[in-house]
Amino acid sequence: MDTAQELNRQFGIGGRLDFSEDAGGLLVAQIGNEQATATLCLQGAHLMAWQPKSQAVPVVWLSNDAKLLPGKSIRGGAPVCWPWFGAHASESAFPAHGYARTVPWRMLESGSEPGGATRLTLRLAESDQTRALWPHDARLDLTVIAGETLRMELVTENFGAADFAITEALHTYFRIGDIGAARITGLSGCDYWDKVGGSTLARQDGTIRFAGETDRVYVNTTAECAIEDDLLKRRIRIAKSGSRSTVVWTPWTEKAKRMGDLGQPDGWREMVCVESANALENAVNVAAGARHTLVVEYRAEPL
Ligand code: BG6
Repeated sequence: MDTAQELNRQFGIGGRLDFSEDAGGLLVAQIGNEQATATLCLQGAHLMAWQPKSQAVPVVWLSNDAKLLPGKSIRGGAPVCWPWFGAHASESAFPAHGYARTVPWRMLESGSEPGGATRLTLRLAESDQTRALWPHDARLDLTVIAGETLRMELVTENFGAADFAITEALHTYFRIGDIGAARITGLSGCDYWDKVGGSTLARQDGTIRFAGETDRVYVNTTAECAIEDDLLKRRIRIAKSGSRSTVVWTPWTEKAKRMGDLGQPDGWREMVCVESANALENAVNVAAGARHTLVVEYRAEPL
């Protein structure tokens, strides 16, 4: 097991990338450069915060009830859902959204980009526990580049002799002023599976606005989308590649109450998830010896 001291020796970039141990024993990377601040927990390679210097309010939302506990997912940030998204197809006891978000990852590389952004690459640490859940010869790396824009690259490599299929998502929680004053553009005309109260197929007509629990998997879309926020007066642009699904989720009052970790008072109103994914019919077959890469890039601009 790495220690913060060892990580700082190998990967630290004095003042720009520093590692520490949280009170619960989890390792955390703190990024600070001319362009942005960001925080990432090594368990789950879970980005917890990102705030470009141009923004008075963070762009990535973290619940004020978020807990950093070994083996538990952190509420908010950008959970990595892999190698399955949502419930497991056949094993109801297996964890929702896969196991990548709740197991340790290890640092592979760090550096500074020419413009000053900070880069780090992590690799999921396989174990008997992960192989029991998913027995395939796979390697999963995440590269995060935090600057005025945030770029994340999730690379699945199949180093075995047999193909395998995955579903996945970068399940990012974005900070907004209020869910009632936010809308999402870029998905008009797309088909989506509506997961509220069952699973029905519908087609998006125009901009998405929120007036209740919303849990939708938009399929067969590679489109860039944007969150327009009248209260914080900004637009968050969400560009992606290697992703054919986009998930839009807000729990609303009752589900938020049941979940119990979305922060008080009404923390859920200040976030919306827009997840760049490959889900349902957009599952990805990764051939033996091949790689698949999902990339997202976020930036905030005045509205
Ligand atoms: C979303 C799903 O992606 O994640 C929702 O569409 C789910 O159905 C949400 O409630 C949060 O999931 P979890 O496992 O982090 O509580």
